[in-house]
Amino acid sequence: MKATAISPANIAFIKYWGRRNHDLFLPYTTTNSMNLSACNAHTTVELFEGDKIDSIIILGSDGKEIEIKRENGDKDELLFKYLDRVRELSKKKIYAKVISQLNFPLGAGIASSAAGMSAFVAAVLKAADLKEYFESKIELSKEVRISGSPSAARSVDDGYTELLAGDDHNDSYVRMIADENHWDLVDIIAVLNPEKKKISTNLGHKLASSSPFMDARIKYLEGKPEIVRDAILNKDFKTLAEYSEADSINMHAVMMTSNPAAYYLSAGSLDILKSIVAMREEGLDVFITFDAGPNAHIITPKKNSEIINKFLQSNQFVKYSIYNEVSKGTTYSDNHLF
Ligand code: DP6
Repeated sequence: MKATAISPANIAFIKYWGRRNHDLFLPYTTTNSMNLSACNAHTTVELFEGDKIDSIIILGSDGKEIEIKRENGDKDELLFKYLDRVRELSKKKIYAKVISQLNFPLGAGIASSAAGMSAFVAAVLKAADLKEYFESKIELSKEVRISGSPSAARSVDDGYTELLAGDDHNDSYVRMIADENHWDLVDIIAVLNPEKKKISTNLGHKLASSSPFMDARIKYLEGKPEIVRDAILNKDFKTLAEYSEADSINMHAVMMTSNPAAYYLSAGSLDILKSIVAMREEGLDVFITFDAGPNAHIITPKKNSEIINKFLQSNQFVKYSIYNEVSKGTTYSDNHLF
C-alpha cells in the first residue's frame, strides 16, 4: 500500500539533549516547542511484498538529492531499523520505497530532522495499515520517539506541543499545549554558513552525560517545562523569552563541556545573539534560541517581523532567512510523490 504524510519541523523552547534510556529514546525532561510553517517534509512510502532492499531518497528544495544508506550508520540507520520494527509489527515480509521532499534546502543544517522523521514514521505506519499506531496522535508520537527522535515526536500534534518525559515507552508521548491559532508568534530562522556537524546529534545525546554540567542541567530543568507551558497558555512573552533563551544557552553549555566537546554555535551565532539581547533590553519582545547548529531562531510576535527582517538583512553573517508562523502537526495527504 502507498501513503503520504506531511509534517513540520519545530523549534524547542525547553530542549531535549541527552537520554535517560537510549534504547527507548526517553529524554531526561519534558520538552516543548512550536511547529514551523515553512519547514516541512512531504513523504510518500510504498510497501511491497518480498525481501528486496529498502530504498530511501530525500530531495531538498535546492534540487539536491541524497540516497540514505543503512551502512552510513547513525541517523540513517535508524530509518532502516524503523522499517524492521514495522516488519515485526505487521508480521509481513515487506520492503519499502520512500521519497521525502523537503521544502527547505538539504545542506543548510536547518532545524532538525524532526520534519523528516515524523513524516516518515507516519507514512510508513499508514502504508502498513497499522491503524492502532497511526490513527491516534499519542500512539503515533510514541512511534516517532522510539524510531529515534523525541524532538520529531513533538511535530505530530498541532501548534504548540510538549513531549512528556515519562518513565517508560507508554508514558512518553506528545500533548498539545495550544493549537496553531492560539498565539501568532513567528520564528525567523537566520541561516548562517552551514558546516558539517563534527558530532552528530545522535552521538551528542550519548555524550551529554559526560559533561560535568549535565547533572546541574537536570536539576535546573525541574519545573521549567511547566513554567514555559503556562507562559504559552497565558501568552506571557516575557516569561517565555526568559526561560527559552536561558534553556538554549544552558543546553549549549552542556554540549561544549561534553567529552569530546560539541561546538555547534559559530561567531555569527554569538554576534546575532548579542544584537537580539540588546533589542530586548531596549523594549522589543524578541528572543533567540539555537538547536544543534549555528542557525539563529528568532522568536517574536508577528507584528515585529519587519524589524527583525531588516536587522537580519544588515547582518554580515546571515546568508538568508526563513519566515515561519506556527503550524499544524502531521497530516495525511493523497498527493503522492510517485
Ligand atoms: C538540540 O536528535 O532531534 O534540536 O534532528 O539532528 O536536530 P537533529 O537531532 P535531534 O536532537 C536535537 C535536539 C535539539 C533540541 C530539541 O529540538 O529539543
